[in-house]
Amino acid sequence: MSRGCFIVIEGIDGSGKSEQFQRLTKRLKKRGYKLVATREPTKVYPVGRLIEKVLREEEQVSEEALALLFAADRADHTERKIKPALEEGAVVVSDRYVHSSLAYQSRGMNKELDINWIEKINRFALEPDAVIFLDISPEVGQSRLSNGQVRIKDHSYFENINQQEKIRMVYLEVLNLHDSPLGSKKVVVSQAGGTKVYRVDGVLPVDAVEKIVWRQVSSLLKELNVEAEGKDSKVESLTKFIEE
Ligand code: TYD
Repeated sequence: MSRGCFIVIEGIDGSGKSEQFQRLTKRLKKRGYKLVATREPTKVYPVGRLIEKVLREEEQVSEEALALLFAADRADHTERKIKPALEEGAVVVSDRYVHSSLAYQSRGMNKELDINWIEKINRFALEPDAVIFLDISPEVGQSRLSNGQVRIKDHSYFENINQQEKIRMVYLEVLNLHDSPLGSKKVVVSQAGGTKVYRVDGVLPVDAVEKIVWRQVSSLLKELNVEAEGKDSKVESLTKFIEE
């Protein structure tokens, strides 16, 4: 049995990340990969539920506490769901993971926190096999959100363009993408530690982005010798996360 594969999709608000997450997981399921489709904040674990309330401004916590909550939710998610799934040889796809904390908590909040500290409190987090970074300018991201093309945000954290641009810059830094500009390319590949990073041009039509992502993921799975089990696999229960 293979060791499985851990893939994370990242991007700023309005990058089309959640749509691409749905499309990628649908394809994996159809091809018969044993799949765990999941997300952060988890929404279903206790700390994730509290984070939801904070993002909806129903509860208030300090920025430091919020960073710790994201890390705690991730600890639960990693131990209870991601690790066991990988041990069973599944493909785990997560809509956001540790790079979201590095980017959003270090530059995206009113109080900017030390990125080294954020790294420290997330030390238990796994190094994904791959991160797909859907790259889009904050202006385009915001116009998509306000056009209703992407779900209207249900919280007012992180929503201004200035903050989104800062968040994007941290992503580029921590994902080691500064030396891999898109230029006229649709996708460029980079490496950040043990993680393969795919920077995909998020401005392209959704179908084009879907194809690019699929091409990269299917060749990665081949490279890692992760094999599909058969036709139209059963998906682990955490897909409930995305069907809510
Ligand atoms: P949500 O509406 O659940 O999903 P999304 O915006 O990804 O479609 O919002 C989650 C918000 O939480 C999003 O603005 C990013 C932010 N976030 C952090 O600030 N730190 C984190 O570690 C994670 C996982 C998310």
